[in-house]
Amino acid sequence: MRGLSTVLGYSALLLSALVGSAGASTQDNNKNNTVSTIFQLDSNGTWFENLAIRQNGHILATRIDVPEIWSIDPSASPDHAGSRLYSMPDVKSLLGIVEIEHDVYAVVAGNFSIEKVQPTKGSFAVWRVDLSADDPSDIQAKLITRIPEAEFLDGMTRFNEDLLLVTDAIKGVIWRVDLKTGEYSQAISDASMVPESGQPVPVGVNGVKVHDNHVYFSSTTQEIFARVPVDAKDASPTGDVEILASGFVVDDFWLLEDGSVYAATNTLNSILKISPDGGNVRQVAGNAFRLTVAGSTAVVMGHDRDGSVLYVTTAGGQVAPVLCKTVEPAKVVAIRV
Ligand SMILES: *[C@@H]1O[C@H](CO)[C@@H](O)[C@H](O)[C@H]1NC(C)=O
Ligand SMILES: *[C@@H]1O[C@H](CO)[C@@H](O)[C@H](O)[C@H]1NC(C)=O
Ligand SMILES: *[C@@H]1O[C@H](CO)[C@@H](O)[C@H](O)[C@H]1NC(C)=O
Repeated sequence: MRGLSTVLGYSALLLSALVGSAGASTQDNNKNNTVSTIFQLDSNGTWFENLAIRQNGHILATRIDVPEIWSIDPSASPDHAGSRLYSMPDVKSLLGIVEIEHDVYAVVAGNFSIEKVQPTKGSFAVWRVDLSADDPSDIQAKLITRIPEAEFLDGMTRFNEDLLLVTDAIKGVIWRVDLKTGEYSQAISDASMVPESGQPVPVGVNGVKVHDNHVYFSSTTQEIFARVPVDAKDASPTGDVEILASGFVVDDFWLLEDGSVYAATNTLNSILKISPDGGNVRQVAGNAFRLTVAGSTAVVMGHDRDGSVLYVTTAGGQVAPVLCKTVEPAKVVAIRV
């Protein structure tokens, strides 16, 4: 396990290095990872929450400040790489997004107020959004299920052929949702998943992924990254929660085949890499003093002809402004690794 002080040890206090211009490529501190903004919205207060890579290589990014899915072409110039693809009626926010069939995505939707930092209990649902239509105005969304008991649905992953797992960041549970029947029930609940008491931001279990018969999760305000062994059929726990790393904030994250993790740290304004046993944590991009990946919310890895690239969504540092004052519009960043 590593503490925050170790992580911050990597940060050089380079105030002059505050960078943020759209399209700029920079070498991040200590590393040779090239970081570039592939698209940025144009107003402060905007929030990209989660993302998925489309089979054509474009990025789909959900927004929490408005109920929209944006499509971003990483190969286009940042000035016109992004466009709004879909806006969901009767709801305020879109969150987790996962491909479930070719160009068809499961999407978490609900009402979340950024100003009050408050979700509306009972407003959350999981939808099936078919993006395969050529004309965006033909995009169809079909309800998979509402979860009236849910308090704050947030991260989501595919567990197996039939099941999705969806985190409930306030209730402190992971729901299982049957993709075909819409049936849902609690798969995992644990004290490590509820929000830390007395925190102004009520976010417990947040990101979720599946690897090697384990469900991996972040519990944001408890500052925990952990996993739990589960039954391959229904994701019921078959053992205790194992805390892999703690002492720093993790929002959503990406898990590699070997069990290493790229984590978005939201309020730490960085991307971290965590070793499979959690024993080694290093900074890959950004830091507390820079806008590079300020307010990072989620990360996915893609591959193009030049190799591997991490795509990161941001909320522009809204929760923890850089140097307590600087925010920027939400963006999607590419990091060569
Ligand atoms: C970064 O690149 C330089 C020049 O190519 C090289 O000398 C250096 O060892 C690299 N640093 C790391 C941390 O990979
Ligand atoms: C979200 O809030 C809006 C405005 O308050 C309301 O009209 C809508 O019904 C809510 N949606 C859900 C799914 O609860
Ligand atoms: C966003 O806010 C920052 C201050 O935190 C300001 O410098 C910047 O101009 C604002 N950007 C936009 C697009 O309004």
